[in-house]
Amino acid sequence: MTETWDTIADWYAERVRTGSAMHEFARDVLLNELPSDLQGQRILDLGCGEGLITRALAMRGGSVVGIDPSSRMIDHARATEQTGATGARYAVDDGGSLDTVATSSVEWVTAGLSLNNVPDLAAAIRAVRRVLVPAGHLIFTVPHPCFETPHARWTVGADEPPGRVVGNYFAEGFWRSANPDGARRAGNQHRMLSTYVTSLVEHEFAIESVAEPAPDARVIDEHPMRAGLPPFLLVRGRRS
Ligand SMILES: C[S@@+](CC[C@H](N)C(=O)[O-])C[C@H]1O[C@@H](n2cnc3c(N)ncnc32)[C@H](O)[C@@H]1O
Repeated sequence: MTETWDTIADWYAERVRTGSAMHEFARDVLLNELPSDLQGQRILDLGCGEGLITRALAMRGGSVVGIDPSSRMIDHARATEQTGATGARYAVDDGGSLDTVATSSVEWVTAGLSLNNVPDLAAAIRAVRRVLVPAGHLIFTVPHPCFETPHARWTVGADEPPGRVVGNYFAEGFWRSANPDGARRAGNQHRMLSTYVTSLVEHEFAIESVAEPAPDARVIDEHPMRAGLPPFLLVRGRRS
């Protein structure tokens, strides 16, 4: 069977909800870029999945809408809201168009590990620009473009730290992981790091920060090989 985000949504929701150190680390490094009090702030969470980041933003007081093209993910997000209301709202929508989101309607757009799933990055950044108010912020994480390249693999030598073998860095486009236990079996868009940065610049975002957070102790405990490499790229841009 060819997997999609819809077909792996139940697996993904279960994985996140049973406490995945990597997903919680990715959520927390992104949240650190926002104020701790979001009262009065309107936020779009692009590619919200089952709502891990959306709920956290709502609990900081933000008025948050999470969008995702996978209706199954949105079902999970809404079901969680029924059992423990945070005020987060959800819609099925595509990050490449954001048709359900009004122009100039949010101060913040967050995109946790989702822009790497959107086929047309320029269309997504254009859509983000449209929905942000002037001086609004886009904050996103993506799997680190330099180390999470198509079919990258680990090397483990007796006398050296674990390393990552990467290749085909310049070959941008869709690929699918053969790992039956990984989210990227649903597919992923590989892009160079410079493509993400350039796309923001081309759409008149000022780049306020670029970070490659070192994995925290919980992540290293779960994935010891990852100790020496950053799993994610984290970028904050401000719309002109
Ligand atoms: C790794 S999950 C991240 C979900 C959530 N942000 C989190 O941190 O748990 C990637 C999400 O991107 C979504 N996605 C796939 N294609 C997309 C698109 N074109 N626009 C927006 N989101 C998309 C998937 O459905 C999936 O929910």
